[in-house]
Amino acid sequence: MKKVISGLILAFVTLSVNAQTDENLGIIPAPVTLERQSGFFKLDKTVVLISNEVPNTATADMLNAFITGKGGFALRTTKSAAGTERAILLTADGADKLPEEGYKLTVNAKTITVTGKGAGLFYGVQSLMQMMPEKKGQEIDIPASVIMDYPRFKYRGMHLDVGRHFFSVAFVKKYLDLMAQYKLNNFHWHLTEDQGWRIEIKKYPKLTSVGSERAGTIIGHHPGVTTDNTPYKGFYTQNEVKEVVAYAAKKFINVIPEIEMPGHASAAIAAYPQLSCFPDRDTYIDPKAPWTGSRKGKQLQQTWGVFDDVFAPTEYTFGFLEDVLDEVMALFPSKYIHIGGDESPKEYWKQSPFCQQLIKEKGLKDEHGLQSYFISRIEKYINSKGRNIIGWDEILEGGLAPNATVMSWRGVEGGIAAAKLNHNVIMTPGSNGLYVDHAQSPSPDEPVNIGGMSPYSKVYAYDPVPAELSDDQKKFIEGVQANIWTEYVESNEKLEYQVFPRMLALSEIAWSPVSRKDYKNFSEERIPLHLAKLDKAGVHFWVPTPLGQSDKQIDGEEITADLKAPVLGSKVYYTLDGTRPSEVSNSVKTPLKISVPKGKKLELKTIVYTLTGRSSVVTTTVLNNEAK
Ligand code: ACM
Repeated sequence: MKKVISGLILAFVTLSVNAQTDENLGIIPAPVTLERQSGFFKLDKTVVLISNEVPNTATADMLNAFITGKGGFALRTTKSAAGTERAILLTADGADKLPEEGYKLTVNAKTITVTGKGAGLFYGVQSLMQMMPEKKGQEIDIPASVIMDYPRFKYRGMHLDVGRHFFSVAFVKKYLDLMAQYKLNNFHWHLTEDQGWRIEIKKYPKLTSVGSERAGTIIGHHPGVTTDNTPYKGFYTQNEVKEVVAYAAKKFINVIPEIEMPGHASAAIAAYPQLSCFPDRDTYIDPKAPWTGSRKGKQLQQTWGVFDDVFAPTEYTFGFLEDVLDEVMALFPSKYIHIGGDESPKEYWKQSPFCQQLIKEKGLKDEHGLQSYFISRIEKYINSKGRNIIGWDEILEGGLAPNATVMSWRGVEGGIAAAKLNHNVIMTPGSNGLYVDHAQSPSPDEPVNIGGMSPYSKVYAYDPVPAELSDDQKKFIEGVQANIWTEYVESNEKLEYQVFPRMLALSEIAWSPVSRKDYKNFSEERIPLHLAKLDKAGVHFWVPTPLGQSDKQIDGEEITADLKAPVLGSKVYYTLDGTRPSEVSNSVKTPLKISVPKGKKLELKTIVYTLTGRSSVVTTTVLNNEAK
């Protein structure tokens, strides 16, 4: 019996896709409406850039810098169209009629007009830049078209855990650049953890002099096979924080700081032991966890997990947290301040006579009531400064003020419950692919990660608005976010590997209307194009499996594999003899016809290499011609 692995027809393994033939003109996220018209705008050095509104100067400069990089020429900028042949016009004229953050982009033979204000104009220019193909001769041909676009959700977020591993300011800026390209507008900066406190607080210098440095880190999966015996440290000064916040603002990204409480507090407690219910008790060290240095006193954690030594709900702690939050709120203009609230064990509060007395005094039911008291007190303080809290979905347990926003991470249920209680919700469920610390394939080549499986197809398939909500309740879903926890992400390269291409799928589910979702177009046309650009730009993304191949067994005696390269310009290599494929193996010419001897199984093993030499994991498909 003949079997075809997939119906994709393509000679060899190069792709013909580009921004001009793709029905979405190569734009991620897909715009709300896009109408392709005949002809092109020929961008060459005679074109002028008209930008006569002062607030648009930075966006005009960004476009000109991009054109210089792509075309080798900068455009002359002018204030008016008089006497010009062909022009790109950036304008807020008419933007008041557009939806929030929306833009209109029209391209014809004579003029490109981007209409928008602030973020809207910036996003219009992002789309325009994505539409530009490579230069042909002396010009860049941009397809004539009309695009109307605006976001589905007002909150489109990416998170970054800098507690488990620290990421430099330079890297954070690169991350923000990439977020902005994909129209993401909230950066959730997870700044405090058991393994490191990463933000300078002037009133409490030990938070960084003690709390930002651990003596060692486990190697291997939790609890670890050994320790690296190497001190690990890093924190952001307040000046660096200001630099990041200002940099993000220029890209229309709001930065939300997260100061975790009452759990995940080991680093703060190591710095100021009086924050613990038991200041004199040594930090608990998992007997299975390898350890470097002293086991006495309060220590930062060196392995991953959830730890019992949480903030004591004392007046000292509340005073400390208010002081910390004062400095944090002075640095971050964000309306939202994230206060964590997740994974806070109640064991120490159960054992503590002070906590038990407080529960009685306040008429609380138990330690969960105490957690609610803790969060409410902090919430009131933050509200008194004109800001609102975000917390992980555990903050729902025990009642909340109406303006608290809930981040649903333990599945979607927390988000559903919160919306039913009229709380704003940000959906970030690990169950639906939004934990991008999970693996992207079942291949044993995947580097050590936290576990679970979230290919980008799973992110793409997710709709952040739960079907079980009524139309009124659906309005509380403010947006969606992907989270990258960094227990197993110790380098910039690995972080990029975990985040890309999943961030691109997030971008589309956060921005584009459901009616514009098209996984085939996304994965076969636009992802290959964007990954080729990211390859050139030095982003260390996860290289997808060849299009048309899966790890499912295929039965048959003559099997035709129509494999297509998943990154524009990349090559697919394969073996059939069980050995690991590499660049010296045969490269795939499609369709690849494989005869499987009767009574036998073959393994088709493939690997993809991009133009810069980045490689994929090995994907294995078992081709089976054994009798059933
Ligand atoms: C979380 O992943 N603990 C919010």
